[in-house]
Amino acid sequence: SRNMSTGRFRVYITRSDMPESGLDLLKKKCDIKTWKEASTVPREEFLKSVAGVDAIYCTLSDKIDQEVLNVAGPQLKVISTISVGYDHIDLTECKKRGIKVGYTPNVLTDATAELTMALLLTTSRRLPEAQLDAKTGGWVSWAPNYMTGPGLKGATVGMVGFGRIGQAVAKRVKSFETARILYFSRSERAEANEIGAIKVEFDELLKESDFVIVCAPLVPETKEMFNKSAFEKMKRSAVFVNTSRGALVDQNALIYALENKIIWGAGLDVTTPEPLPLDSPLFKLKNCVVLPHIGSATIDTRNTMSELTAANILAALHNAKMPAELK
Ligand code: DGY
Repeated sequence: SRNMSTGRFRVYITRSDMPESGLDLLKKKCDIKTWKEASTVPREEFLKSVAGVDAIYCTLSDKIDQEVLNVAGPQLKVISTISVGYDHIDLTECKKRGIKVGYTPNVLTDATAELTMALLLTTSRRLPEAQLDAKTGGWVSWAPNYMTGPGLKGATVGMVGFGRIGQAVAKRVKSFETARILYFSRSERAEANEIGAIKVEFDELLKESDFVIVCAPLVPETKEMFNKSAFEKMKRSAVFVNTSRGALVDQNALIYALENKIIWGAGLDVTTPEPLPLDSPLFKLKNCVVLPHIGSATIDTRNTMSELTAANILAALHNAKMPAELK
């Protein structure tokens, strides 16, 4: 509830290191309480801290469920996440209680598409393995079969999920003179024509693609859609890239597929859990590149995301139209 003496709204922020540009917007109008560390707020602390606040500014690492909403109290007006993904938020429960939810679509599309391209090429051209080899004396001579991998030119690329980010990736992929771009999506995408992407069934995409790129949100229908049988349908030469959410993948099935060369390699910006434990077999596999969830991590993008997160809060608190409300 509003601060009694100042009449200002109270906002809880789940990390101490949120970008300044967004914080500045909030500070002018609200009283801010922040988790004191540059780390994910521990659950217990989170539950203690949200009691009585009007708004919560969170990240994809903060689970927003009934328990959080209960302890926050009925004055809570808005949850604003500094992410486009919203699988960590119980939307049904928010809706039931009339709590608005803000997120950050569009502003991170290009950064995430760029990182997806980087990860794809890093994986297919074996960059981490090659650099390590160069640094540790494995670079003995130029050799014709040394560090070879699949190329994009003339390849068939399958996009699983063809929303904003999937389309932005497809446009970039196309500039590498691929033969075909296939996509699998719940809905027909009008934009596909312009890009020249062909809608196919999931199984067909798996069978036909040299590269399989995952850009779909985590929803019940996509959970672990990449299971043992999916990897078995893929080409042995296939490169698998995931920049969406780790939970779309049955990770043990992926490990099995990589260890047994059922697919050629994988590039992952997202895993289960996050951070990925150091003893994960994924870290030991030469044909797997693991990045620490940095898809949207350009300097400008992160600033813009924080500004949008703040703008969503301010609009909701003042009963104005939110710039990016999740319905
Ligand atoms: C998101 O926005 O959902 C990403 O995972 C982090 O930028």
